[in-house]
Amino acid sequence: MATKATPAKKAPAAPAPRVAAAKKAASSNGKADTAKAAQAADIDAPVRPVDRNQPLVQPILNQQKNAPAPLQKYGTVAQRLPIGLSEQVRQESVTMLNQLLADTITLRDMYKKHHWQVVGPTFYQLHLLYDKHYEEQSELVDTIAERIQILGGVAIAMAADVAELTSIPRPPKDREEAPVQVSRLLEAHQIMLKNCHDFAKRADDSGDDGTNDLVVSDVMRANEMQVWFVSEHVVNTPLAKAD
Ligand SMILES: [Fe+2]
Repeated sequence: MATKATPAKKAPAAPAPRVAAAKKAASSNGKADTAKAAQAADIDAPVRPVDRNQPLVQPILNQQKNAPAPLQKYGTVAQRLPIGLSEQVRQESVTMLNQLLADTITLRDMYKKHHWQVVGPTFYQLHLLYDKHYEEQSELVDTIAERIQILGGVAIAMAADVAELTSIPRPPKDREEAPVQVSRLLEAHQIMLKNCHDFAKRADDSGDDGTNDLVVSDVMRANEMQVWFVSEHVVNTPLAKAD
């Protein structure tokens, strides 16, 4: 266990600068721990202008520690851009798109996990294919998230929040055989595609043509294509000699 550093001696007030005082305190007893503590205290100390006649060119840090209320709560469609859609329609689309976003982020990350962990005779094929699909899913993530913002919503973003929302089962941390990897990916694609059919229909019914187009033209088409490329790897065909 690391020894807890002793706090730095309090630096004298003006005219001696804080940094110099902290360094002096550290060097007077010669202990490395004290020097580290002095440096840490200096980094976290409030910044004040040394010369009142000079502008302070210091960024205002740590504002997240005393943040005001958020600009917009997740789950609302507070912003109304002039795109000809009612709040009710935008709210419904944002809810659907956040589900699609959480699932796409999860599938994207599953592709990267499998890109790293794949093993066996098809290593090179799958290693490259998984990364290609990862990049394509990354583009979809951005497209979906930006559509949510256009509709006035708040896009889900962070891993912990995504994990709570996604409908794709969590894979183990362990390394798995290639056919098991493929099966997990196909299961995830199918969950996404079922949602795509449902969401596209609902967006069409409500008159949100932009969301309908995104779900069909971007998300559905890309996922169907990836299903084809991945599925063919688990068809049991002879490798060297015809049956
Ligand atoms: Fe890589």
